[in-house]
Amino acid sequence: MKTLIAANWKMFKTWEEGVITAREILVGTHKDLPEDREVLIIPPFTLLKGVGEILLSQKNYSLGGQNFYPAKEGAFTGEISPVQLLDLGCSYALVGHSERRHILGEKSDFLASKVKAGLEAGLKIIFCIGETLEERKAGKIKEVLTSQLEEGLKEVEKNLAPELLTIAYEPVWAIGTGEVAGEEDILEAHALIRDWLKNRFASGDKMRILYGGSVKPDNAAKILSLDNVNGVLVGGASLKAESFNQIILA
Ligand code: PGA
Repeated sequence: MKTLIAANWKMFKTWEEGVITAREILVGTHKDLPEDREVLIIPPFTLLKGVGEILLSQKNYSLGGQNFYPAKEGAFTGEISPVQLLDLGCSYALVGHSERRHILGEKSDFLASKVKAGLEAGLKIIFCIGETLEERKAGKIKEVLTSQLEEGLKEVEKNLAPELLTIAYEPVWAIGTGEVAGEEDILEAHALIRDWLKNRFASGDKMRILYGGSVKPDNAAKILSLDNVNGVLVGGASLKAESFNQIILA
């Protein structure tokens, strides 16, 4: 399994800014990129084509969508389908990011239907889970993570090929706050997720688990060295090639 270094650009960057950053990322990393590392850029929809043109001819660089609606096509004004993401060269898509759960109000049934529709269309899904600070303080981490996994992945077949599903553990209180989870917290959450995956899927031991939440150049190498951490999902520090490139090569 390749270590996945993913950039979530959220709702940032104009066309020109995005294309320039993508070029800087490629130029700054492709010569030194280890064979067992994959770089994934998840830009806003408006930049999929521009970033794809720069990255997609390169081995181990991939493109992903931040969101999609769970239908092939139809009268869903303002939405985008998995087929349209694939059409622009996306191989991955995020589902369940905390900003979609907490700001856009997406509920577990809807997330489950997205996971199903995305996989059926042929996208690899990065399913994001994580507890809020309140839930952490109430000692409910295991309960929260387990129910997010159970509910969001309820439609997925047991024999799914492991490369098609990646879990991203992103404690909500660590996203965009500069506050990174401690090593013990990450180890504990990832071990719990690994156990759950092994019980639930035939190849759950081979599915990747990413950590996300204030990953920066100075903590990336340490986080990537931890047990059951198979990559990182990076927001803020992925917006500038200078910092993202250090994480890619960490
Ligand atoms: P952050 O975002 O790196 O800015 O904390 C991570 C994410 O939202 O995926």
